[in-house]
Amino acid sequence: MTPLTAARIAASGIGQATAIAYAAANAAGVCLIDINGALLSETEAMARTVATHPNFQTLARVVDVTDEAAVDGVINDAARQFGRLDCAVNAAGV
Ligand SMILES: NC(=O)c1ccc[n+]([C@@H]2O[C@H](COP(=O)([O-])OP(=O)(O)OC[C@H]3O[C@@H](n4cnc5c(N)ncnc54)[C@H](O)[C@@H]3O)[C@@H](O)[C@H]2O)c1
Repeated sequence: MTPLTAARIAASGIGQATAIAYAAANAAGVCLIDINGALLSETEAMARTVATHPNFQTLARVVDVTDEAAVDGVINDAARQFGRLDCAVNAAGV
């Protein structure tokens, strides 16, 4: 499978499940965004545990998705860190 980089938003429920699924499916990295820092850390650790890509990376940042500038900032940072972003999963419970 071609390595993917996923940007995902929300660290529990659908967002968490998606990040873990991508990590287990050989994604090169996932960018995690949530308002809840504890959930963010938990999801980052779970993704790292199941990741299959040898150079798997994460970028996790506490962001409120209603703050458009902050969301733009982390997405731009992720694109720079990973080289490219292939998909975004917007699953914040707002
Ligand atoms: N789970 C389902 O079957 C289902 C079905 C249809 C629609 N939805 C909708 O999809 C969305 C996600 O569902 P879920 O089950 O994954 O919910 P969830 O409550 O498990 O996860 C939502 C996540 O969003 C985060 N969040 C909340 N407000 C935020 C904000 N302002 N900025 C950043 N992060 C924020 C929370 O911290 C949490 O981690 C919800 O809006 C839900 O109503 C869910």
